[in-house]
Amino acid sequence: MSSTKSDIQILLCENYDTLCDTAAQTLSSLAEKAIDERGQFAMSLSGSYTPKGLYLLMASAGYQELFDWHKMHFFWGDERWVPPDDPKSNYRMVAEALLTKIDIPMENIHPVKTREKNCQTSAALYEKELISFFGLKQGEIPRLDVALLGLGQDGHVASLFPRDPAIEETKRLVIGVSPEQTVEERVTVTLPVINEARCVIFLISGTEKARALYNVMEGEGEVVPAMKVSPRKGSLLWIADKQAASLLKIKK
Ligand code: 6PG
Repeated sequence: MSSTKSDIQILLCENYDTLCDTAAQTLSSLAEKAIDERGQFAMSLSGSYTPKGLYLLMASAGYQELFDWHKMHFFWGDERWVPPDDPKSNYRMVAEALLTKIDIPMENIHPVKTREKNCQTSAALYEKELISFFGLKQGEIPRLDVALLGLGQDGHVASLFPRDPAIEETKRLVIGVSPEQTVEERVTVTLPVINEARCVIFLISGTEKARALYNVMEGEGEVVPAMKVSPRKGSLLWIADKQAASLLKIKK
């Protein structure tokens, strides 16, 4: 079931499994369209727990065939500044769930290099990789086909956390941050990169996200980073299960 609330599209799913299926089907059609139009599809992946089921599904029989992996490029919206084999690594999570199971060229996988001397160096290198891949001139912003995001219970997106000055960054594409809310330093794309995407997709599951989702949709409470996600020339798609959407006032 879908509901359009103002200029936001919400796809409501019965449960986590249908949430992952809906997201996989959506990504498949967006990838097909991008490849038809521009010969490739580039997306940034989100990390942590929610998207793991989506990545596992994309790698499974019956779904793998929906994607032209050789023409798809994976970036990360954010990364914990830990080694790539660390259990906290978003790269490791995606590699185990998806990348090691599909026929995708190594050069199509663009992880944040977290073995550099410090977090800022990793961020600067990642920014150079985006500039090089998208062939950007000074001041230009990369236009991802999809930016896939989760929603933190505090309204954070990627590694942009409430009250962090990183939210206000308008020049740099990628920054290293030390959020008070996390143990490890993080590398994250900035809001200009997220808002330049052709399609921003939020993937949200569980009752623990209901309050955050309600606050973002209704503009309640403190202004949090998720409220600043507003694609400049693109679409915004919320894919949520009924548990996460349980507080929303959706017109039937
Ligand atoms: C990260 C994520 C982060 C995540 C939210 C939601 O590296 O932690 O990119 O932004 O999307 O924290 O996380 P869950 O899906 O685990 O609730």
